[in-house]
Amino acid sequence: MSNLTINADRLIRRIEELGSLGRDAQGRLVRVAASDMDRLGRDRLVSWLKEAGLEVAVDRIGNIFGIWRDNANTDLAPVMLGSHIDTVIDAGIYDGCYGVLAGLEAIESLKEAGFAPARPLVVAAFTNEEGVRYSPDMMGSLVYAGGVGIEDALAAVGTDGTVLGKELERIGYAGQHQPGFLKPHVYVELHVEQGPVLEREGIAIGAVENLQGISWQRITIDGEANHAGTTPMAMRRDAGVAAARVISFIADRASASRARTVATVGTIAFEPNAINVIPARAIFTIDLRDPNEASLKAEEAALAAFLDELAASAGVTVQAESLARFEPVTFDARVVALIEAGAKAAGLSCRRMTSGAGHDAQMIARIAPSAMIFVPSRGGISHNPAEFTAAGELIAGANILLGVTAGLAVD
Ligand code: GLV
Ligand code: MN
Ligand code: MN
Repeated sequence: MSNLTINADRLIRRIEELGSLGRDAQGRLVRVAASDMDRLGRDRLVSWLKEAGLEVAVDRIGNIFGIWRDNANTDLAPVMLGSHIDTVIDAGIYDGCYGVLAGLEAIESLKEAGFAPARPLVVAAFTNEEGVRYSPDMMGSLVYAGGVGIEDALAAVGTDGTVLGKELERIGYAGQHQPGFLKPHVYVELHVEQGPVLEREGIAIGAVENLQGISWQRITIDGEANHAGTTPMAMRRDAGVAAARVISFIADRASASRARTVATVGTIAFEPNAINVIPARAIFTIDLRDPNEASLKAEEAALAAFLDELAASAGVTVQAESLARFEPVTFDARVVALIEAGAKAAGLSCRRMTSGAGHDAQMIARIAPSAMIFVPSRGGISHNPAEFTAAGELIAGANILLGVTAGLAVD
C-alpha cells in the first residue's frame, strides 16, 4: 500500500467546482456560515460524500461527516480528517475547502484501492470556522469538543441579526447527532499555510506543531454627535478620532513588539455615519494574536489600560466585549512526527512551524491527538480572492495526508 496515491484530477476538479459555488452578483466568494451560499457548498459536499459511498451524518451544530466504516472494527475510534467549507467575505477557494476535499479524496482513494482500515475513517466539515457572521470562530469544532454548549452556540446572534440555530434549520443543516458523537482516535487537518514562510524558504510541507493564541474583542466608543463645521476641535467628543487612536495604538505596539504579536481592526462602523456629523459612536473589532500566552495577556492588558486613558482624555465612554479567546495550542508530537516522516519518505522538504491562523484542529486537539499539514500559499496571501496554491503543491500535500491516514488507520 506504500505507493498509493490520490486521484489528483478529481481533487483539483472538486476544489475548483466548490470554489465556483456561493458567489454574489459581483462574483465574490461569500459562503459565510449557515447562509444560502453556504448551503450550496454543503449540498455539493454531501453529494460527493454519497458518491464516494460514505455514510453522511450531520450534528446539531451543522457539522457534516462522511464516514467510511467498511469492515473496520466499529468499536475503535475513527481517524478523523477535516476542516471547513464556510468562507470569509470575498474569499479564496482553498482556505478550509482544501482540507475537507483532500480528506474526502484520501478516504475515497483508500477505499477504491481496496485498503482495509482497522478503524473507521471520517472526513468532517465543521460549521462556522471563519466566525465572520457568528462569533466565536471555529464554532462547530469548539462545540464538538465540548468547549461551548450546543444551546449557547445555536443562540448566537449574527452580524446581520440572525440566529445561528434558526439559520441552520432554514438551510436544512440542523442535524440530529449530538456534537462529539464520534470521538476521534486522532485528527489530521491539511490546510494552505495562508502565510509566507513555506514559499519564502522553498519548502513543500509544513508539519504544524503549534498554533497561536487568539483574542477577539468588540469595542464600542460613545462620544457626541455635533456639527462638523461649527464645533471647535477642543469642544468635540469625537468617537471616530478615539477609534483611530485605538487602531494606531495596537498597530504601533504590535509593530514595535519584540514578541510575535499581530493586531488587526477588520471591521468598523460609525454612527450616524454622515460626512458633516462628528461621529457619536464607533463600533469596531480587534483581533490580537500571539503564539505566547503571556505576551497575548500583556497585549490585552496594555489595550485595556489604553482604553481607560482614552475614555478620560477624549471625553468618551468605552466598552470592550470579548468575542473569542483561545489560548495557544501545542499539537500532538507523535502526529507531527508522522507528518514529517511521511514528507521525508516522499522526498519532500518539510519544516516544523507555527500556525498564525485559527483552525478546527485547535479545538479537536482538546479531545484527540491532533496536528496539521501545511502547503505553501503564493505570496502568503489568504482571506483574499488572490489566494493561490499550485496544483502540484496541493496534490503533494494530499498525498502526505493519504499516507499519514493509512498509517494511522491500521491499528
Ligand atoms: C480563521 O480563518 C482565522 O484565523 O481567523
Ligand atoms: Mn481555514
Ligand atoms: Mn479562514
